[in-house]
Amino acid sequence: MGIDQRTQSDHHIWWHNAAVYQVYPRSFFDGNGDALGDLVGVQNKLPYLAALGVDAIWLSPFYPSPQHDSGYDVADPRGVDPMYGTLQDAQSLINAAHDHGLRIMVDLVPNHVSQDHPWFQAALAAGPGSPERARFHFLDTHSDEPPNNWVSLFGGPAWTRTTNPDGTPGQWYLHVFDSSQPDVNWTNPDVAEDWIRTLRFWLDMGVDGFRVDVAHGLVKDMNYSDLPDPVGLTEALRFDLDDGSPEMAAKRLLIENSGFFDRDELQDIYATWRAVLDEYAGDRMAVSEAWVPPHRASRYVSPTSLHQIFGFDFLVVAWDAEIMQGTILKAMSAVADVNAPPTWALSNHDSPRVVTRLGGGEVGQARARALAVVAHALPGAMYVFQGEELGLADADLPDSARQDPVFSRTKGAQKGRDGARVPLPWSGAAPPYGFTESTTNTWLPQPDDWAQVTVEAELSDPRSILNLYRTTLHERRAVTGPVTFVDSGSENVMIFSRDSGFHVAVNTGSTPWDIGAMFPNCSVMVSSDMQVGGKEESLPPNCAVWFIA
Ligand code: GLC
Repeated sequence: MGIDQRTQSDHHIWWHNAAVYQVYPRSFFDGNGDALGDLVGVQNKLPYLAALGVDAIWLSPFYPSPQHDSGYDVADPRGVDPMYGTLQDAQSLINAAHDHGLRIMVDLVPNHVSQDHPWFQAALAAGPGSPERARFHFLDTHSDEPPNNWVSLFGGPAWTRTTNPDGTPGQWYLHVFDSSQPDVNWTNPDVAEDWIRTLRFWLDMGVDGFRVDVAHGLVKDMNYSDLPDPVGLTEALRFDLDDGSPEMAAKRLLIENSGFFDRDELQDIYATWRAVLDEYAGDRMAVSEAWVPPHRASRYVSPTSLHQIFGFDFLVVAWDAEIMQGTILKAMSAVADVNAPPTWALSNHDSPRVVTRLGGGEVGQARARALAVVAHALPGAMYVFQGEELGLADADLPDSARQDPVFSRTKGAQKGRDGARVPLPWSGAAPPYGFTESTTNTWLPQPDDWAQVTVEAELSDPRSILNLYRTTLHERRAVTGPVTFVDSGSENVMIFSRDSGFHVAVNTGSTPWDIGAMFPNCSVMVSSDMQVGGKEESLPPNCAVWFIA
């Protein structure tokens, strides 16, 4: 059933409980034989995605870019980089996705542009005090020090000095990320206007939603005041895992007071965006990537702001039933007061893959499956990062292969995010595993031991994680009702119920747990180890089940 028919037959708002699959285009599938993923490649694989049971696709940036941050350095937000195809390919993909009953979301990167963006090139050429420079944050200093002590999230100072035409040192410009990603100045009306143009451009092409990159970062402290604790902030800003500890909470507070995150004026920007989105039929939506503490989250999801905020809690949650329960409650209550659906993600292109994070090897595999079985039973929207459904672990890359600016800017102190971004294995027993027909090496090398985790291999294995995802992603559409936690009597077992006797249990301990003793009539529907039948009495360690009782 195509999108249009589905919208007419019921008034269900699709994004309230959608499962959204994140495509990282470079590494998804090569449709034109040049060893790089592209839009035609995504279109070729729409049947795979529809069969997986997702409702929408979020495409990470495919815009013209010099690729200093894998496309998050955008030189033209209304174009397609030739390495990914053409605007016609984008249109064709949007239409074909709709024919498959899949929505399309595209990534917007409003905090910064690429150094190759015509605006930044014009600003460099025009010189200090010009209207061209006013679209960015250019400052003078009277010494060799940057204008203030702000730090880049990718390491090092957040300021880079320009050179005047005569070779003397010039003004500094702000970049909260890489020096190739100058931050734009959102108090400048050109910026706001141009972004509305970009929204309309993609809405007119038929996209159903947007993922808003660094949505909490657009507005800066225009006094550019020094930070009280830049060293602590540098630590806090690392793309590290939040283990829920008080130390991490303190780091988050530092970020909150950083001078460039989560400022109140942001909401005026999103009110204008919301008005534009609301003009269009079809429940167009926007999800914000905003790393803010729970008590600030609801500000990004209201009738005058954006529609969703990513819930990053499962990216970092400890393998501990009690912590997991607290995390779920916290995530749901963070958006409950504005009546917005929560969202869940086990992984994305910025974090270690969930298998690796939860211990790697067989244990990591088992826990990743179990966490998915828990997450897929929760209300709200589910975001699935490509390859998560295959149970991929982070690839162990040689430093010489690393491309993430986090690696180079920290001089190797942080390995960066490349391990999760390796091209997907589709078929066959050796690289490139059907990803491309080219014999050129893929942009990040694929591991030699991926023969068992290709789509082809997993489809033919009834116990594969891919078949688990295909089951739970389809079945989750029928799961309704509020979440009610049930006391299991064990600190290692978390249980919650939804409507009609539907229950979920997960065992984070090291010994089996006796389900039958508590639920004598339980009937297991799905087990994360895919061993349904004959095991109803016992929930093994690192396993989760859906059951009726
Ligand atoms: C977001 C993206 C990340 C990118 C950064 C700068 O956090 O998810 O990949 O590096 O923004 O655009």
